[in-house]
Amino acid sequence: MIPTPHIEVKDKGIIANTVLMPGDPLRAKFIADTFLENVERFNTVRNVFGYTGTYKGRKISVMASGMGMPSIGIYSYELFEFYGVENIIRIGSCGAYTADLNLYDVILSTEAWSESSFAKVQSGYDSDIIAASTDLNSKLEKFSKELGIEIHKERIHSSDVFYRKNFHEYKEIYEKHGCVAVEMESFALFHNANVLGKKAACLLTVSDNLATEEVTTSEERQNAFTNMMKIALEMAE
Ligand code: HPA
Repeated sequence: MIPTPHIEVKDKGIIANTVLMPGDPLRAKFIADTFLENVERFNTVRNVFGYTGTYKGRKISVMASGMGMPSIGIYSYELFEFYGVENIIRIGSCGAYTADLNLYDVILSTEAWSESSFAKVQSGYDSDIIAASTDLNSKLEKFSKELGIEIHKERIHSSDVFYRKNFHEYKEIYEKHGCVAVEMESFALFHNANVLGKKAACLLTVSDNLATEEVTTSEERQNAFTNMMKIALEMAE
């Protein structure tokens, strides 16, 4: 069933086996402009830009996910199921729940915990924790070591709510569920990978810290996020 309702390219072969997924379409463009050669844009529907190119001579794609589980749920499903994509690596930002994490630290998500009904509604899956692919995680860990970039392997919180009435609730989620940071997509991404027999992982860069109330500017984020991108780009094949 291609093209799909949300991806316009008619030739399946244009999208690589591995797709990197930032949330922001302009970050997808930044990765294509900065790191890829022989770039071909394969999607503009809703301005959710998708590109395929080569990195160090190896093929890789990058496409935005949009924000939140409903959005990444749609794009990851269509890429996995209809375009034959095997691996999706989310590269996103997160809010840290502990003062032990600094701005720009890189987290490799071992598991996503969530209050979301996404997995239950999608396929009746009942647990509130879903693991990332251990195969992809061990590759990403190896690349991070080779590049000399420190990563923190941790459980993270996938939330449906950015603006909580009581933002101090993060302390309880940290203590009770062991999540060191919050983002809004991984739980749905990992679930789709599992139900479709594919692989998914998630690298995050700390963009703000709820415990210390430190924040970054959008301009700072553009450059500082390149560490996480370089790790993920090594997945090109
Ligand atoms: N909450 C949810 N998602 C996020 C945050 C946050 O504070 N920071 C970056 N992504």
